[in-house]
This record gives sequence, structure tokens and C-alpha cells, in this order.
Amino acid sequence: MTRIAVLVSGGGTNLQALIDAQARGELKNGEIAAVISSKAGAYALERAEKAGIPGYVVARKDFASNREMTQALVAKLKELDIGLVVLAGFMHILTEEMVQSYPNAILNVHPALIPSFCGAGYYGLHVHEKALAYGVKVTGATVHFVNEEPDGGPIILQKAVDILPGDTPEVLQHRVMEQAEWIILPKAVSLFCQGRLSVEGRIVQIKEEN
Ligand code: GAR
Repeated sequence: MTRIAVLVSGGGTNLQALIDAQARGELKNGEIAAVISSKAGAYALERAEKAGIPGYVVARKDFASNREMTQALVAKLKELDIGLVVLAGFMHILTEEMVQSYPNAILNVHPALIPSFCGAGYYGLHVHEKALAYGVKVTGATVHFVNEEPDGGPIILQKAVDILPGDTPEVLQHRVMEQAEWIILPKAVSLFCQGRLSVEGRIVQIKEEN
């Protein structure tokens, strides 16, 4: 059983999708063992509590730098014997200590089809504002392994979502979550926990179910 930590910063709807998938028995060989929030009072912590999952706070404001925060997070993850780290609406860029401690064992969900609308400055609602301003007709979500480059790691799953006339950033954000993020994130987590993902360079191969 892989022990999973979900790192969050806000509302936690992707966390909820993982909790619901676990309740349906769809996180095969995985168990959400901890939720770690970068903000005290994040609604995601309430979701964790309701599901009986231990919640922790490692707040950015308590550290002098991203590096010190990352080191504190790594220490917590090791103490909790975590095997898979999931960034689900986690709004901080972690330093290389995280990737070095968990090589190809950190997943991130991004609300666009990478390599579009990603990298520094592209997070949360801003991603959808920028997609609408550019005039693309299709967007979506990506789940990828985290490496040293923001949103630059090997891609595991993607799902496209149409942009419709009259969309606002909020409306589009909700459609991307409902039609893509909440589906592909639990799927990718389950594939990881079943040992069905292999990475060669940028390419992720998904093995057939035994
Ligand atoms: C989600 O859309 C997630 O993809 C995005 O923030 C939102 C968090 O919502 N993450 C990023 O932009 C990271 N670059 P949630 O807290 O309800 O899951």
C-alpha cells in the first residue's frame, strides 16, 4: 500500500475528488495518509477532517524562504513514511530538495494542456484568464510528474475541455475541474500506486493492468 500525502493551499476540490475515489475503492493500492496545507484555515483541511485523514500545516509565512519551507515539508513527509506526494492546488514552487527526496514520486495537477499556459505565474484562475484572453477554443488539464522545472515534468495524463462562447474564468475553471481534473488526478494516482507508470526521459509509459 502506497502512503499518499496530498499538499493543498485552498479549497481542495481536487483533494475531495481523491477522497471520493478512495471511498469508491478506486485508488488501488494507495491510501491517503496525510493532507498538508500551506495555509492554516484552508477549507481543504476541513475536507480532510471530515474524511478522517490527519491534517497538518506547513505555512509559507513561518519560514524565511521557499527552501526552508521545502526542507520542513520533506522532513514531515519522511516522518510520515510517505511514498507518493500529490500537489493538488498547491500554490508554492518547491526547491530542488523536494524532487531529490521524491524522484518521480510527486504528481501535480495543472489546469491547462501543458505546454500551453504553464510555468511561473500560471496558477489557479490566472491560467483560465490567460487561455480566454488568448482566444484558444480548447483547453483542459494535465497531470504530470514534478521535476526541477515549474510544470515541466513528464506528462502522465491529459484531458481536453471545450471553451464555450460567454465563458468567464470562473465558469471555465469549474468546467475544467469537473470534466478533466477531478477525473484524471485520481486515475493518475491509482496508476502510480499500482506501479503501472514508468518514466524514460520525458516519456511516461502506462502498463496494462495485470
Ligand atoms: C486547481 O484548478 C488546480 O489545477 C490549480 O489550482 C486549482 C486548485 O483548486 N493548480 C494550479 O494552478 C497549480 N499550478 P482546488 O484547491 O479546489 O483543488
